Amino acid sequence: MRRRNFLMVAGAGLLQGQERAKRDMVTRAARPEDLEMPLSGFSDYLTPVEHFFVRSHVYVPAVELSSWRLKVEGAVGTPLTLDMAELLTLPAVELDSVAECAGNGRAFYDPPMPGLQWTHGAVGNGRWRGVRLADVLRRAGLQPSAREVLFAGADVPVGSMPDFQRSIPMRKALDPNTLLAFEMNGAPLPVKHGFPLRVIAPGWAGDSWVKWLTEIHVLDKEHDGFWMKSAYLHPGNAVAPGSAVAADQMRPVTSLRVKSVITSPESGTQAVMGKPLTIRGAAWSGDAGPVNSVEVSVDGGRAWKAAALVGKRTQFGWRQWELAWTPRSVGYVTILARARDAAGNTQPMEQEWNPSGYLWNVVHRVGLDVVREVRSVAPLTAPAQTPPVISACTGCHGEDVIRQQRLTRAQWDREVTKMTGWGARVRDEERAGLLDFLFTNFGPRTR
Ligand code: HEC
Repeated sequence: MRRRNFLMVAGAGLLQGQERAKRDMVTRAARPEDLEMPLSGFSDYLTPVEHFFVRSHVYVPAVELSSWRLKVEGAVGTPLTLDMAELLTLPAVELDSVAECAGNGRAFYDPPMPGLQWTHGAVGNGRWRGVRLADVLRRAGLQPSAREVLFAGADVPVGSMPDFQRSIPMRKALDPNTLLAFEMNGAPLPVKHGFPLRVIAPGWAGDSWVKWLTEIHVLDKEHDGFWMKSAYLHPGNAVAPGSAVAADQMRPVTSLRVKSVITSPESGTQAVMGKPLTIRGAAWSGDAGPVNSVEVSVDGGRAWKAAALVGKRTQFGWRQWELAWTPRSVGYVTILARARDAAGNTQPMEQEWNPSGYLWNVVHRVGLDVVREVRSVAPLTAPAQTPPVISACTGCHGEDVIRQQRLTRAQWDREVTKMTGWGARVRDEERAGLLDFLFTNFGPRTR
């Protein structure tokens, strides 16, 4: 019954409801589309599709379910080509899990680095239904040499950028929680989230959650493609802020880290002395989850109080929390929240810097003005307009991708080299002028 339902729903008006107004979302890039959930989104336990962050390396591919197939090849006994009906004969599994972009929080790193300048909302909590990757691999029969599983989707690279393909080690591939999902929040997977099938790697950052899945290659060695060996890498230990780290000194981003976000009150707002309010937020972790406790400080980190965890405890879903508080004196207050996971990990007070700005999880601080009565606050002045970005840079993506950067001249130089390598046409005699323009308009933050 379920299977028939799915095929019918998916066949009819696929795009319906999936292009709903995204007025509440923060557009980090319009083309290809990268959308961030606003802080208010954390108030839902399950993030509705229209509030779920979208991360697109390239343009969304059009996939027809009738011609879609999943191929399983490589170090297997029997290579498979499955259509959706065949896939759905395997046992279905449903679980709640946070999906978080590895770069969530990149905007807070100092010094800044290139990439989408996400703040808090490149994360969502979804209910995913699918089949176990392990069941698919068992059906194909793993050879003893099998070491990694490489995923490829139907998305097509722009210019000469390398195809987005990611691998996970066999341990994660065989984990019973690693799914190939065809449903999100009880409905067929939306196009932007990988219709008809995406990888669900609970506890791991979004770069492993390959969308529009069409091919699974079982490898007998580590995959050495660009997206494993040059992107989504983390040094794993402290490095000097702003330093360059050789790719071979880093390892792929895997598990998320314990993290908590204060969603209310918001930074820069006012509270009234003597008037009770509720401090709220959401917390999650990765492999070491779930979150066991959240502590809150209303005095800049001297004293901490346990917040109440609300809702149900799941292995990989986020946990909402709250703490009632009545400010007793006027003045500027810093509220902090610190989560602890099942393995005892807690959030750092100072963030370790890393070259690509991944896995931001420092204790979140919110500054609040406690006043006798609320006064009106002067509106922020509109940001200064900068001239349009040079046309050589806007063929593949929008100029918003460029505008949000705050890079040094050396960093811009590396970006332009990367982009010309991927197909941007910049003539030699234009290059210095382009760099001047980028550095002048989108240079480092001034303090
Ligand atoms: C041939 C296509 C193409 C052209 C032309 C192009 N880019 Fe890109 N650019 C890309 C792709 C692909 C990405 C990565 C998209 C992703 O992963 O979301 C990207 C990402 C970026 C980013 C984000 C940081 C990063 O490295 O992922 C910046 C900044 C950027 N481009 C700047 C530029 C500038 C400046 C120019 C003009 C010199 C330019 N781009 C021209 C394809 C292009």
